[in-house]
Amino acid sequence: MIIVVANSKGGVGKSTLAVHLAAWLFHQGHRVTLADCDTQQSSSEWIREARPEVRTVRLDNPDIILNELPVLAQDADFVVADGPGSQTETSRALLLRGDLAIVPCKASMLEVRALAKATDVLRQAQDIRGGHPKAVIVLSMVGKNYRLTQDMKDAAAALSLPLASAAMILRQIYADAPGQGAVVWDMGARARDAANEADQLFREILPHAVRRPAAISAVRKKTTSR
Ligand SMILES: Nc1ncnc2c1ncn2[C@@H]1O[C@H](COP(=O)(O)OP(=O)(O)OP(=O)(O)O)[C@@H](O)[C@H]1O
Ligand SMILES: [Mg+2]
Repeated sequence: MIIVVANSKGGVGKSTLAVHLAAWLFHQGHRVTLADCDTQQSSSEWIREARPEVRTVRLDNPDIILNELPVLAQDADFVVADGPGSQTETSRALLLRGDLAIVPCKASMLEVRALAKATDVLRQAQDIRGGHPKAVIVLSMVGKNYRLTQDMKDAAAALSLPLASAAMILRQIYADAPGQGAVVWDMGARARDAANEADQLFREILPHAVRRPAAISAVRKKTTSR
């Protein structure tokens, strides 16, 4: 399965979500490749430190993305593609190849309204491909006491995009994680709430990717014995 993390707006939490998703899928016992499709290459550097077991590739050209993503998908259970914050052609290539698009969006009405524009390319791809890729909006950098307002639900519904009920809360720990070459599940008690919420989010979006506890503890053992 090819999962594309895409929003043509910059700085909405794409790389943070992509790296945590790749690490989470690895913990569920899957073979995972992270395709870093942003010229900044921040997510591939981050995951290499945090989870060297996750294969990384850098694909920053639309033609290479169109050609290589299906090949990568043959050798992995999941390919997580981290998209760029601009570069429409790169996003288009990703959305023409992806099976699922996760669209992180900051939780303000202004950002949600901007989503109509930011998801133009997604809608084109769905139109061409008979509804694929499936897509879900994930609210990122949400205030702790945030409640999903009816306005936001309406805005998402107007775009015909489902909104995940779990969200990524604005927490310093997410911003600290790349500097420590870690993901929130490695960062102890201070990161417990973030670790739980990320787990809950990915379980909601990808229920079929959740593996049996035995598989998870085997992977954990391998990781912690490094
Ligand atoms: N939930 C969060 N809480 C706090 N900070 C966050 C959260 N998610 C991301 N950040 C921080 O916000 C900034 C932007 O996040 P990130 O790099 O993941 O976004 P992006 O969409 O990949 O950006 P770009 O479009 O530039 O690739 C980073 O400094 C990151 O550490
Ligand atoms: Mg990024």
